[in-house]
Amino acid sequence: MSDLTSRAGAVLEAHWREPGFCVPHADVYPVRFLWDSAFHVVVWAALDRPERAHTELATIFATATPAGFVPHMGYHLDPEASVGFWGRRGASSITQPPMYGHAVAELTRAGIAVDPAVVDAARRGLLWLVDHRRQPDGTIAVVHPWETGMDDSPRWDGALGSERPWTAEAWRRRKGELVSALVTDGDGVAIDSSSFRVGSAGFTALVSFNLAELGWATHDRRLVDCAGELSLALGPLLDPRRGWRDGAGSGAGGGARTLDGLLPLLVVEPASSADGLLAQLVDRAAYGGPYGPAFVHRDEPAHDPAGYWRGSVWPQVTYLLWLAARRHGAGPVAEALATGLRRGALGSGLAEHWHADSGAALGAVPLSWAGLAAVV
Ligand code: GLC
Repeated sequence: MSDLTSRAGAVLEAHWREPGFCVPHADVYPVRFLWDSAFHVVVWAALDRPERAHTELATIFATATPAGFVPHMGYHLDPEASVGFWGRRGASSITQPPMYGHAVAELTRAGIAVDPAVVDAARRGLLWLVDHRRQPDGTIAVVHPWETGMDDSPRWDGALGSERPWTAEAWRRRKGELVSALVTDGDGVAIDSSSFRVGSAGFTALVSFNLAELGWATHDRRLVDCAGELSLALGPLLDPRRGWRDGAGSGAGGGARTLDGLLPLLVVEPASSADGLLAQLVDRAAYGGPYGPAFVHRDEPAHDPAGYWRGSVWPQVTYLLWLAARRHGAGPVAEALATGLRRGALGSGLAEHWHADSGAALGAVPLSWAGLAAVV
């Protein structure tokens, strides 16, 4: 464990940049990413580095718009670099799971005071999503697959096509086409899309979870109520054997069994169906593996154990499901997820993601968020 802690600390230290955040990876991801940074906050707090934790949390909001929208990428080191692709200076025009609500709650639990201006920015960011992206069925819409953070999940195959394996150029082109389809507001941020809009169950669950976390940390009734409304909207989307389907929308790929379809476990009330779904996380015939849960169910035609978002273990998703298992009192499942996460992170050299059965490193190495293995 101490080895993991010191390695996580060394990676975050090496990835620290001004004005106060960690790049996910020095070469592959040299900018700030919203949900990565929120996870780094959690890791900094576990490493007993409260100033770093607070600074990185504050930096997430440095590129927020006056209305509260929080972009998923911040180009602090080279603000002009975003203009060509996003049409905005310094930041992207889409968002990512608002994990900053959880980050505030984690700091609060650790006894670290959070600047009221940062709390206010977090509150406004979450309410922006509720006010601008809530659909008639109660789910929160994403308007680009990238907004989910799970960029090439089989759930988005209807929009992304089947050119896999992607060449870097084809991947960038397809994502760029989806950026061209965005409908933006006066601040240049995405409020809709002419070709992709999905009430993602996973994204809705993460918005609900973060509202609940921030609401708890700040005793804010409105946030807690909004969290409850989103959680209720997920109810009709549950298939007790397959997990949650996505809500209203167009342009995606349907209901492939993926781990984002189990993230509502973070917010729904404990029920017998939850036990069966939690068991799938550690069942080797479903998602389970010795190095953590595969992102795509092993029986899905799209399952590819080494593909990007097609069936490998992702440390931040495993961490979220560990939180969910604990919330449901599923101790053995939580322990198995924590063991897989630690084993996979250590064995892969803190990789971006890894193979569920061999633990072999995949993607960029080292990636800052793999430090979550030192938290569980
Ligand atoms: C990839 C991931 C995304 C993450 C980013 C930086 O784009 O799909 O979720 O935020 O890398 O780690």
